[in-house]
Amino acid sequence: MTTSVIIPAAGSGVRLGENRPKAFVDVGGASILARTVASILAVDDLELDRIVVVVPAEMIGPVREELAGVGCEVVVVAGGAERSDSVRAGLQHVTGEFVLVHDAARPFTPVPVFRRVVAALRAGNPVVVPGLPVVDTLKRVDAQDRVDETVDRAVLRAIQTPQGFHADALVAAYAPDSDGPGTATDDAGLAERAGLPVLVVDGDPDAFKITTPWDLRLARDFAKGRA
Ligand code: CTP
Ligand code: MG
Repeated sequence: MTTSVIIPAAGSGVRLGENRPKAFVDVGGASILARTVASILAVDDLELDRIVVVVPAEMIGPVREELAGVGCEVVVVAGGAERSDSVRAGLQHVTGEFVLVHDAARPFTPVPVFRRVVAALRAGNPVVVPGLPVVDTLKRVDAQDRVDETVDRAVLRAIQTPQGFHADALVAAYAPDSDGPGTATDDAGLAERAGLPVLVVDGDPDAFKITTPWDLRLARDFAKGRA
């Protein structure tokens, strides 16, 4: 069962606040995107068909050049205004039975996370996402920041990527007649709204997303430890 990976890397990184799109920020001598591609290629039993990298239009040429010869087929296409637009653009170019959608911004995702997602896809689950238990106490607040209630965190998971799909499930999630992105902040959210069951497998703290300057400092420390 072969797999394609879509890497949405077309965001501008507003919260990070660097002077370039986030995926192209340097972390210890390599771009965030280059590290993410390398982390996928390290998963030797993925049966990888191709990687579809979705980038800002002006980065297509440089990324094609940078990723030529990485050892698997790489397709580079332009993204859109919202993350879901970028994934939709990538979806036009996938092949194979399974599709993983993996944020460029999670360059240190460990190999076992990919393996757990793919194993659950191979076991027949149409949509599989990695998730972590929530450690902080969670409170719902009103518009004045007054606490309405404390939420039961035992039934909550913080969801990461790679998010795995049987190819037809991802196509159904992104079908033009589905409700549109709305409040769904991830790909599995669109699948849920299309009525598909979504399984959560164990994520890993190392699969953190670089979102803020604090995350970038953490990532640069990580890179020192990993060379
Ligand atoms: N992404 C994308 N296309 C967009 C928006 C986001 O491909 N229009 C990608 C980002 O490049 C990133 C992933 O989706 O790899 C997760 O998004 P996020 O962390 O929100 O990145 P940005 O949108 O770039 O950051 P910000 O929201 O702070 O601007
Ligand atoms: Mg964003």
